[in-house]
Amino acid sequence: MSSVLVVYGSVSGTAAIVAEEIVRELTEKDFQTELSDSSDVYTKIPNYDLVLVVTSTTGTGNFPDNIDGFYQELFQNKNNQRLTETQFSVLALGDTSFTTTYCRAGELFHDVFIQSGSDPILECFKLDACEVMDPVGAGIEWAHSVVAKVSNQLSQDVV
Ligand SMILES: Cc1cc2nc3c(=O)[nH]c(=O)nc-3n(C[C@H](O)[C@H](O)[C@H](O)COP(=O)(O)O)c2cc1C
Repeated sequence: MSSVLVVYGSVSGTAAIVAEEIVRELTEKDFQTELSDSSDVYTKIPNYDLVLVVTSTTGTGNFPDNIDGFYQELFQNKNNQRLTETQFSVLALGDTSFTTTYCRAGELFHDVFIQSGSDPILECFKLDACEVMDPVGAGIEWAHSVVAKVSNQLSQDVV
């Protein structure tokens, strides 16, 4: 695995910073990495081995505006463009004080990738703004777990 697309959805900048730091870290580890905050990347998914979605939830369970179109394209095409060659993982930023919509945007991304035939590396990983004081550190740790799991799978495939 070498090419990673990181797409982020952010309102006030936290998910954006986390995504930028993840990209910096992966690039230093020689992954071919692209960062995007736009919906235009949908058609490019099959070019990547791995898609990482880093998104907060806003409103009452809504997607940040910048990533809403990306979700809609995934949802509308989930039965047409199958994404079986690309694995994915979702890092969801939220706040448990939003009891009924906690990390809803991240959960919906996780579900729609599965519905599109893509294979999750890990369960949707949630960062609670009430608990986690260092979202960048936690995000990088998550990215390391994802990459370790993928590398592990590859070495098992080779054996
Ligand atoms: C107006 C507003 C609405 C929010 N709604 C939700 C929500 O429905 N569910 C949730 O889990 N978090 C919610 N949050 C918390 C944010 O997702 C959380 O603070 C996140 O870290 C913000 O990341 P960002 O700066 O990248 O947007 C909300 C925050 C704000 C300010």
